[in-house]
Amino acid sequence: MPDPTRDDLNRWDREHVWHAFTQMAEYEPLLIERARGCKLFDIDGREYLDGVSSLWCNIHGHRHPRIDAAIREQLDRVAHTTSLGASNSTTIKLARRLVELAPAGLDRVFFSDDGATAVEVALKMAWQYWRQRPDPRPEKTTYLALGDAYHGDTLGSVSVGGVERFHALFAPLLFDVVRLPAPQTYRLPPGVAADGALAHYLERLERVLAERHDRIAAMIIEPLVQAAAGMIVHPPGYLRGVRELTRRYDVLLIADEVAVGFGRTGRMFACEHEDVAPDFLCVAKGLTGGYLPLAATLTTSEIWRAFLGRYEESKQFYHGHTYGGNPLGAAAALASLDVFDEEHVLKQLPAKIARLAEPLQRIAVQAHVGDVRQRGLIAGIELVEDRAAKRPYAWSERRGQRVCDAARRRGVLLRPLGNVVVLMPPLAVSLEEIDQLALAVEQGIFEATRG
Ligand SMILES: Cc1ncc(COP(=O)(O)O)c(C=O)c1O
Repeated sequence: MPDPTRDDLNRWDREHVWHAFTQMAEYEPLLIERARGCKLFDIDGREYLDGVSSLWCNIHGHRHPRIDAAIREQLDRVAHTTSLGASNSTTIKLARRLVELAPAGLDRVFFSDDGATAVEVALKMAWQYWRQRPDPRPEKTTYLALGDAYHGDTLGSVSVGGVERFHALFAPLLFDVVRLPAPQTYRLPPGVAADGALAHYLERLERVLAERHDRIAAMIIEPLVQAAAGMIVHPPGYLRGVRELTRRYDVLLIADEVAVGFGRTGRMFACEHEDVAPDFLCVAKGLTGGYLPLAATLTTSEIWRAFLGRYEESKQFYHGHTYGGNPLGAAAALASLDVFDEEHVLKQLPAKIARLAEPLQRIAVQAHVGDVRQRGLIAGIELVEDRAAKRPYAWSERRGQRVCDAARRRGVLLRPLGNVVVLMPPLAVSLEEIDQLALAVEQGIFEATRG
């Protein structure tokens, strides 16, 4: 078969590939052919800065020589072996490394392949734990989750998720959960001042736990930043408060660090900012440096012990994914963690975070910018029709997308969340690239909100 032309590829893309979260009737192909560092190149050789880390997963830039070499070396040994009753040395080393890095007490690692599966694993493990522990609590049959939460697109993850526009359609397929509002500080509940927000949200949590803890198996949270909700940044202290209360009321805590893990917030894990050790830690996206699908759910030995017994007792965790713990992904993940050490990635972040904060201050005073939220190298800029009233644009106006289209014409690739423009560059981004990213966004917002 002759090599397809550029036009063939564009046509086949439209005719055969069904893209995620994309209205295919309007889809305009964007064919990325290659990349280097934080730059992506399309099939016509146009260059784009990867402003959202290829959907929040790239960490050290594309084609990092260390990670490329690690995958090639692993290929020379074995590309895949099963984790069902068997193991391989690369995946074992990664488990050990994750345990050393993770908050204290998380010393058991269950591998899967995506963020959603890491969450499913935590939900099911929590469920089974309460039924099998020495003092069983089978009445714990529900979960506590936050409004606007996003934990992935499988049905368990969607059940604990709460993004109306993505999830409402599937409601009849989902299990019920106890829901609390997202602790946001831009649109506060009536009568609550900014400095009272933390106390308000923790009081609400305590009320629910006091009433219903007997039925709640686990609370799930995106620590510090609810990413898909529009980069909602929680009031400082909320996560620590959640940990104290869930412990007091005997509710397990699942920290979903799929988006915020691996340095995005300025620390390796977001939980570190508030000295929190959850009962489950879910990681994916950046685990392999953004190279390959691999995820992990870390938990404690206490939980793990509830799954031990004689074979006939049937206490094992009946859950698995064919590619869970894939050695190529594990090799990439180990190399990514080496790069963190060798290139002192975390030490370089404060300067980059500060550099991003400067233009964000300018952007914050634009006429149609309601709120600018930054945590580490994550930023969300919320566009509003009326700044004083905090009235959002109708989502059908696609203002966020219009900003991204304008940024794309300036060589920056972004993807919005409704009216929120998201900036989440790879940690390897340079100071100059941060300036380029911010300028494209600043000009893009101006252009897309004028009329
Ligand atoms: C916090 C969080 N959890 C889970 C997921 C799902 O991850 P995946 O798309 O790898 O299934 C995402 C994806 O954006 C996420 O942001």
